Amino acid sequence: MLEISGLTVDYSGVIALDQVSLNADTGKVSTLIGANGAGKSSLLKAISGLVRPAGGSIRFDGETVLDQSPDALVRRGICHVPEGRGLFPYMSVMDNLLSGAHLRRDAAGIRQDLDKVFHYFPVLKQHRHRIARNFSGGQQQMIAIGRGIMQRPRFYLFDEPSIGLAPLVTREVIGAITAIARQDRCGVLLVEQNANLALDAAEDAYVIELGRISLSGSAAELKNDERVRRAYLGL
Ligand SMILES: Nc1ncnc2c1ncn2[C@@H]1O[C@H](COP(=O)(O)OP(=O)(O)OP(=O)(O)O)[C@@H](O)[C@H]1O
Ligand SMILES: [Mg+2]
Repeated sequence: MLEISGLTVDYSGVIALDQVSLNADTGKVSTLIGANGAGKSSLLKAISGLVRPAGGSIRFDGETVLDQSPDALVRRGICHVPEGRGLFPYMSVMDNLLSGAHLRRDAAGIRQDLDKVFHYFPVLKQHRHRIARNFSGGQQQMIAIGRGIMQRPRFYLFDEPSIGLAPLVTREVIGAITAIARQDRCGVLLVEQNANLALDAAEDAYVIELGRISLSGSAAELKNDERVRRAYLGL
């Protein structure tokens, strides 16, 4: 579904991605793990059209999407749930969620997807009229994911959704992400620094170091890889 080949991102001399190749399919979670500054967010921004790569190719459903605007990519079905969430802090949960559906006109579908968000995250339904800034970090992450669901995308990019969350909330958030892939049959690229969590949730995995993919394979393989165990799992 998503095929990336030889992708290079250069911020005026800072090479954030160097010839990165990666594939992600529908119906499962693919994860990209890496340390601070490894280039994870740069990859997601390149896919969603927020940074322009210096070289390489990105194909979605077999078609090149390299030169499209972020809006056009949303219309094609790519949803980016960014690092830091990017909510409207003084708007209600409901209005934040509905902002994800602003390109849609299918009222019945929008209602259906709202039900889906509240099914995944019941706490949001209960407090849907409260403003977003009054929620905990974990709940704000739920709002950000919910807003993504309201786009009804076919492919999700999640940038470190677990960062700063308590273990119980993390489980809920990751549970929704795996359900989006496996039950809704969407594609998911999950970027994480928390390798333990990501390798447990994903089917396929990539390790990125200083802008280069250093390892790839099934998540189970990488979990048992000596280098991954030492550098990322603290074993
Ligand atoms: N707008 C920018 N201008 C210049 N350099 C940048 C810019 N954005 C990122 N970089 C650099 O590119 C490299 C990769 O950054 P990126 O944000 O993609 O890493 P990351 O893996 O997402 O890190 P983190 O885990 O801290 O979020 C880093 O060296 C970073 O300093
Ligand atoms: Mg990042």
